[in-house]
Amino acid sequence: MREWVNRLAEAGDLLTVDRAVDPRFELAAVTKRAQQAGNRPILFRNVKGTRLEVVTNLFADARRLRSLVPVKEGPFAAAYASMLDAAESRVAAPTREAPAPGDLQQGQLSDLPLITYHERDAGPYFTAAIVLALDPDTGVPNLSFHRAMHAGPRELRLRLGDSHDLTDYQRRAEEAGQSLPVALLIGVSPAVFMAAGTHLPAGVDEYALAAELAGKRVDVYSGAHSGLPVPAATEVVIEGRILPAERRLEGPFGEVLGYYVPEAPNHVMDVERVTWRRDAMFHSLLCGSREDLAPLEAINAARVYRDLSRRLPGIVDVSCAPAFMNTTVQIRPQYRGHARDVMEVVFDSHADYNQLCCVVEEDVDLSDMNAVMHAFITRGRVDARTLVISDRAGFYRDTQSDFVGRVGLDATRPFGREDEFVVKEVPGLDAVRLEDYLTRGKRM
Ligand SMILES: Cc1cc2nc3c(=O)[nH]c(=O)nc-3n(C[C@H](O)[C@H](O)[C@H](O)COP(=O)(O)O)c2cc1C
Repeated sequence: MREWVNRLAEAGDLLTVDRAVDPRFELAAVTKRAQQAGNRPILFRNVKGTRLEVVTNLFADARRLRSLVPVKEGPFAAAYASMLDAAESRVAAPTREAPAPGDLQQGQLSDLPLITYHERDAGPYFTAAIVLALDPDTGVPNLSFHRAMHAGPRELRLRLGDSHDLTDYQRRAEEAGQSLPVALLIGVSPAVFMAAGTHLPAGVDEYALAAELAGKRVDVYSGAHSGLPVPAATEVVIEGRILPAERRLEGPFGEVLGYYVPEAPNHVMDVERVTWRRDAMFHSLLCGSREDLAPLEAINAARVYRDLSRRLPGIVDVSCAPAFMNTTVQIRPQYRGHARDVMEVVFDSHADYNQLCCVVEEDVDLSDMNAVMHAFITRGRVDARTLVISDRAGFYRDTQSDFVGRVGLDATRPFGREDEFVVKEVPGLDAVRLEDYLTRGKRM
């Protein structure tokens, strides 16, 4: 991460904040204000109560994410989908043993930036913490994001969703009466960050995806307490274990959808070792902002693209902007009913996401919902081109009851009648230079 931040700084893309900033609300307020003005990363140099610098908004920009994928041709979804294929079929070891960094410093949770983001949040949260754990039966590593509430000098409370691999690891450890050793990684390389945000099939080592993205094996050292394979480039590492048969109240917390998730009994991590590299940068992520949504949208779009192109012809591109539970698919229609088949596959692709699926043709910008809606409304009967599916389990939020349906909108032209919907053009438009024609306001 630090190399990436340095490169962005050299390119003049990094914003810095030198004045002292309060980690309670002020840091989040400045972040949000800066995000309203653009997608540039921000480095807070002086956060009260900690010696660590805080970086945020690193992953907020779709073009920056695109630059992280080594395949440079074609849409992001297709390029990232090819990385998933490569990771799942990788035979070479994805990691390489490395010595622990020589500059590691050890301290307490209270030495880290304890950032409170929203008015009703129960306390400070680590929002960019990636949980590293090994499958208790096979030893396969998994990386996943889980918000972590700071609850005491050596206690964090984690929320594990129903569909997460970590939840399955923890359940099996718990059934055996064991705690689950974990390491929270804060401030990792972009490749590890993206791999952690990606769901891969059970049994696939998520470091394989990081290695494919980085184009090289990930250097890992053995965590001094947990023995877990910690990427050597990680800025901050919190080692400990998730306690079996122990749940304590966590939340409320202002979550990804923009609302507070209520207080609920959740998992408890007993913290045993906290280390960071000299001059460490701590990664803070404002939940529900572009930095949260852009990677989530990009990763989900790739997964849907892959599922679709394995099963159906004519798939051009997929976008999950402007909110990750919406999925817009661009197709080259091949037969009557093609769009409807697309929706069925999309709804099957991920139980948690894809609540709304819109299908468009190549003449519509799939990342522009205004254009998508215009196509839907102007290209045929809205009633006949809407698919409503009720009572199908949805997003794994703490309260699930509102997320149990799906809607599909077919915004393609009626098959065989495409000529009736030729988009009108004004000849010569592109050649017009307004300064050749317009002058300011004089009336003769
Ligand atoms: C930047 C980012 C942050 C995320 N934060 C969370 C989170 O705090 N809690 C959560 O349940 N899911 C979060 N997710 C969604 C998924 O849980 C995440 O992709 C998960 O790591 C998938 O891992 P798994 O399939 O190995 O369980 C986040 C995804 C991204 C890309």
